[in-house]
Amino acid sequence: MGAVDQATAGGHLKRYAEALARDPMYAFGLVREWMRTDWRSLFAELRERQPIFVTPAFTVVTRHADVIEVLTHEEVFSVRSFGPRLDAALGAPFMLGRDATPMNWREKGLMQVMLDPHDASAVRELVGRRADELLDAAASAGSLETVGGLFRPVALGVCADYFGIPGPDQKTLGRWTRAVVADGFANFHADPEIQAASVSAGTEFVAYLRGRLAEVRTALQAGRELPDDVFTRLARASQSGGLPVTDDRVVVNMAGLPLGFVESAPGAMVEAVEQLLLRPEVFAEAVAAAGDQERFDAYVWEALRFSPFFKLIPRVCERDHVLAAGTPRSTVIPAGTFVLAAPASAMFDGEVVPDPEEFRLDRPRHHRLFFGAGHHSCLGVHVAAVVICETVRRLLLRGVRLLPESESMVERSLGIFPDRFVLGLGAGQDA
Ligand code: HEM
Repeated sequence: MGAVDQATAGGHLKRYAEALARDPMYAFGLVREWMRTDWRSLFAELRERQPIFVTPAFTVVTRHADVIEVLTHEEVFSVRSFGPRLDAALGAPFMLGRDATPMNWREKGLMQVMLDPHDASAVRELVGRRADELLDAAASAGSLETVGGLFRPVALGVCADYFGIPGPDQKTLGRWTRAVVADGFANFHADPEIQAASVSAGTEFVAYLRGRLAEVRTALQAGRELPDDVFTRLARASQSGGLPVTDDRVVVNMAGLPLGFVESAPGAMVEAVEQLLLRPEVFAEAVAAAGDQERFDAYVWEALRFSPFFKLIPRVCERDHVLAAGTPRSTVIPAGTFVLAAPASAMFDGEVVPDPEEFRLDRPRHHRLFFGAGHHSCLGVHVAAVVICETVRRLLLRGVRLLPESESMVERSLGIFPDRFVLGLGAGQDA
């Protein structure tokens, strides 16, 4: 079934118009619910009929070019809808909470140097080892709850061994990242409970990182040998005025690494594995390709296109802007509009992505929007890419399957963050 057929079958716009005439709040709730549960067919219909979908509460941007336009105009489309909450949790500004400031420019550059893309292969090895240990431990059980038993521990292991942030323990570090990120990305209504949990988790996290920085500095001054992790690199580079970065900025930028990673990497792993398992023929091919990393990775990215972890990226329009100017869909976005740019829709835009409904391995990299685009594009992209692919690869090499009935249904907090995904395990190949 193609995008157009889906759109015709969907009838979302008709139902929305009817609901709007009766009760705008109900109509708004309806769209929010569709975006959560029925997004693929909603977006197909919007791309076809109303690609810039204006509602009284928000505007959804569905075409590839327009999503890129929103994400690359940071002086027009700002992160104000979640930025101040992120700043509040960390007690100081952070790059993802601000737009186009000298701090964005300086600190993103600094952290790009610290997260050297050359580290990717060592991180891949580290992840492979950790995943294998966890899979060995689970092998005799015949099934595995993959979020708590594999995906999150792998991500938290990278925080410990590569970032140099083990946390007091994995559970506490995971609790902090969940609380802060849930407020940043899922708290559209500024729920005060979610906000309070975020500020309290952020405060604990920052205090922990201050202590950790003091430990690392003491060890450096004593000439003790330290691992070559990101924390040590940044502490070393910034000590005794070597780089013009204060300790406060070291701490905030280090906080950003687990925050950017621990929720989104397991999220992407769940989506990719589920999408592969839902396509038995593709899944069999992916397993057959799992001996060859590069060939295998293409399966992960294409699977993720069918359900990216970040389906919507929120922005606030800061001044009146003509979006998609010069095209038939050209629309004035008034200042103050809450805008949802939809990478999940953009990656199905047939004008850019040929045969979007087909599972194809030859998609060019610039069609992918898993890691955002423009000013706030993902700092951790190189590391994140290998962590996601290698974890999924090791899992598939063990032989994995969906369990009957609803046992393998993914459970998600706030409809976004995966908490549980049980799979049958066994009868795979060796790595
Ligand atoms: C090593 C792992 C990761 C780190 C350290 C990291 C860190 C960050 C940081 C600091 C930003 C903000 C950059 C800025 O404001 O200029 C960011 C943005 C982003 N990251 Fe990551 N991230 C990681 C993994 C991931 C993963 C696994 C995904 C999803 C599959 C992801 C998706 C995104 C997206 C979509 C944005 C853009 C957000 C926006 O524009 O509002 N990241 N990342």
